[in-house]
Amino acid sequence: MKLFDLFVYNTKFDITKNIIMSTSNFSISEYHNVKEINDRLDKLINQPIRPVSRDKMAAYIEHFEKNCLKSKEMITEAMNYIPGGVQHNLAFNYPFPLVFTKAEGAYLYDIDGNRYIDFIQAGGPTILGSNNPVVKGKAIELINECGPSTGLFHEYELKIAEFICKHVPSVEMFRMLGSGTEAVMASIRVARLATGKKKIIKVGGAYHGWSDQMVYGMRIPGTGRFDAHGIPRVCTKHTQEVFPNDIKALKRKLRWNRLRGGTAAVILEPVGPESGTRPVDFAYNARVRELCTRYGALLIFDEVVSAFRVGLSGAQGYYNVMPDLTVFGKVVAGGYPGAGGLGGKKEYMSNLAAGLQGAKKRAMVGGTMSANPLSSAAGYYTLLEIEKTDACAKAGRAGDRLTKGLQELIEKYNLPFVAYNQGSICHLETSATMFVKINMKRPWTLPHALKEVKARKHMMEEMGAAYMAEGIVTLAGSRMYTSAADTDEVIDDALARFERVFRNIEPAN
Ligand SMILES: Cc1ncc(COP(=O)(O)O)c(C=O)c1O
Repeated sequence: MKLFDLFVYNTKFDITKNIIMSTSNFSISEYHNVKEINDRLDKLINQPIRPVSRDKMAAYIEHFEKNCLKSKEMITEAMNYIPGGVQHNLAFNYPFPLVFTKAEGAYLYDIDGNRYIDFIQAGGPTILGSNNPVVKGKAIELINECGPSTGLFHEYELKIAEFICKHVPSVEMFRMLGSGTEAVMASIRVARLATGKKKIIKVGGAYHGWSDQMVYGMRIPGTGRFDAHGIPRVCTKHTQEVFPNDIKALKRKLRWNRLRGGTAAVILEPVGPESGTRPVDFAYNARVRELCTRYGALLIFDEVVSAFRVGLSGAQGYYNVMPDLTVFGKVVAGGYPGAGGLGGKKEYMSNLAAGLQGAKKRAMVGGTMSANPLSSAAGYYTLLEIEKTDACAKAGRAGDRLTKGLQELIEKYNLPFVAYNQGSICHLETSATMFVKINMKRPWTLPHALKEVKARKHMMEEMGAAYMAEGIVTLAGSRMYTSAADTDEVIDDALARFERVFRNIEPAN
């Protein structure tokens, strides 16, 4: 970027978008100490697991058998018709999935009438709390008026696009899509079309949806095609991974690619892979930006989780680093279906023009239900409510309170566990499943590593079940999303419940 362009860009960034917000509008109040967290995680993975005592775990399992009978019955029936009986990868599965009938604010209710504190937050979208009454009212109004979809343009498409372009600093144009997975696919297609290059570099351990090209280096860095069952090798031929937070490795890869046709894009989650499970240095994103500019690759921020959760200007506003393309999902439809979108500079986004503009060479995207009036309206009113109520900051303070409380409990019971957060994205690593080191270049070490993953994963499931039995729904037993509905009372109640689990952890050998 030339100096003049940089000036114009920054001027626009400052004045027309007005996103220089006080940090109180962001969910993250203080940047965590990445080295300290990584040291603690290293220590955790290098010691034997410390699960819930066998007696107590047996009591938790019995709790489900006694108090969740209707769930068990329905899931047993579902096994006949739905593969595995459950359709969400991160659903609570152990000892059996539960069936939920009601969601309201900070709470979920199962079919047997049990109440839970909701830290799964639908996987991230419901930052306002579940089933927000304002958004619900608007959704009902819209359905009464025109139904959920028409296949034609609706005013809410414009309203949500305008709102996003106004608030997310790097976004000049926005295209709504059906899911985060679709939006990632679109971003890669646009990057390849715009640069004329093919290679995509992602960060190992990151999840960017389940498209053929992105099932690569998932969950555990360095695992490449380990999960790519049913995906021909050719589909991941141009996908590469680098280890998280390793700027030198990225530079080496970009340099290597330059001699072999070049890199179309680097895609990453600005808070770190897997919603920040592996935290990155504050300066990491800016340094990636520099490298992308130097090597002519586009920078794609996958803000499926972070946009409108870290802040209304996204994680890019928080880090003050401008990507070329931004992938949206989750909060963009406020917990309603059809949560996906791609935003970016006009010069790139015009590659997606549809309808009358469609005659030129363009990146093909589509979707019968993309940008339907219901998703657009739900997303738009969710964003308005976030702005009106300062929801990201509120959810962030709840995340801080939860994390601080968990850290105190970990200390009190002298446990090796690690709690950390990026505002309303909270991590509680007890078995460090995703931190098992897998070296694909040494295939003879794989059986041992996989055995370790299995044992640690089972402990994570048990922890999830223990929290659930105590009335807390987590995401896969290791992550919690907080929302603006989480008052201090809700968080303190949750901490008392976590304490009941921590009190019963097996002693170290
Ligand atoms: C960072 C990230 N990118 C992409 C996706 C895929 O989004 P979707 O589930 O809407 O396809 C997810 C989903 O969890 C995600 O966390």
